[in-house]
Amino acid sequence: MSNTPKAAITGWPVTYSRSPLVHGHWLKKYGLEGEYGRRDVDPETAEDFYRNFKDSGLVGCNVTVPHKELAASVCAELDPAAEAMGAANTLWIDDSGKLCGANTDGIGFLGNLDQLAPGWDDNPGTAIVLGAGGAARAVIWSLLSRKFETVHIFNRTAKKAMEMAEKFGSSTIGHAWDDLGDYIGKADLLINTTSLGMRGKAPLEIDLGPLPESALVSDIVYVPMKTDLLKKAEARGNRTVDGLGMLLHQAVPAFERWFGMRPEVDEELRAMMIADLEK
Ligand code: ATR
Repeated sequence: MSNTPKAAITGWPVTYSRSPLVHGHWLKKYGLEGEYGRRDVDPETAEDFYRNFKDSGLVGCNVTVPHKELAASVCAELDPAAEAMGAANTLWIDDSGKLCGANTDGIGFLGNLDQLAPGWDDNPGTAIVLGAGGAARAVIWSLLSRKFETVHIFNRTAKKAMEMAEKFGSSTIGHAWDDLGDYIGKADLLINTTSLGMRGKAPLEIDLGPLPESALVSDIVYVPMKTDLLKKAEARGNRTVDGLGMLLHQAVPAFERWFGMRPEVDEELRAMMIADLEK
C-alpha cells in the first residue's frame, strides 16, 4: 500500500463539492505528498463506513450532508464545537487509533469575517441570523463564542428557530420570519444562512430599509458570490462579506491536521475559486 496520505470529502452526493479544489491547491502550492478526493457514502452503509473509518484507506475526511450528525455520533472524541453542535465535518484517527471529530464550520465563518472585515466583533451587540439549519447552528455557535449579546434567529419554520434558540440558551431568541421587520433596525450584524439567493433557488426577499448603515451584512451563499442581499446592502452603504471565505477557512484546520502544515487563505486561492465559480 502506498504511504501517500489520502483524505476525501464524504457525503451523499459529493459531486458538486469544491473541497477537492481547495485541498488540491494547497497540496500543490506547498509541494506536499498527499491526495484529496471525493467519496460518496450511501446513507444505507454510512454508519458502517464511519464506524470502520480506519479501514477506509484515508487518513481523514471531511463530512458533508447528510452525514455530519451521524459522523459526530460515532466518534470517540469530539472537539468542543462538534460537541456543542452535535455534528462533525472533519474526522481523523489519532495515534491511539481512536476516531476523532471536529466541526470547523464555525471557525470558517469567523476566519472569513476576521480576514475580510477586521474589527467586525469589537462591540459584539445584536446579530440577526436568517435560517435555522446546519449552517445557522455553526454561525450561532461562532457568534456566541465571540460574546455577542443577543442573537435573533428568524426562520420560515418558526418552530425550528425556537428549538435552535432553546439549545443555545438565553442569549438566543427564535422568531417567525414575518417578525423580522420588528428587529432588523437593531442589528449590528445580519447573516443569511438559508439557501435563498443561491443560483437556481428562490430569491431572498427582505426589506433592508430599517437596517442601520453601520451594520455588517454577510451571506453564506457563495454561488453567486455577490448575492442580491449583498448587492442591496452594498448599494445602501453597509459593509458586506461574501460566503466564499467560509468554505476556504473551514478547510484550514483540516488540512493542517491531515497533511501537517497550516495553509494560507490567500488571494491566489480566492482567485482560483472565483474563476471556478464563474465557469
Ligand atoms: P444547511 O445545513 O445548509 O443550513 P438546511 O438544514 O436544509 O441546510 O437549512 C436550510 C435553511 O434554509 C433552513 O433554515 C430553511 O428553512 P426551513 O427550516 O423552514 O426549511 C431555509 N430555507 C430553504 N428554502 C427556503 C425557502 N424557500 N424559504 C424560506 N426559507 C428557506
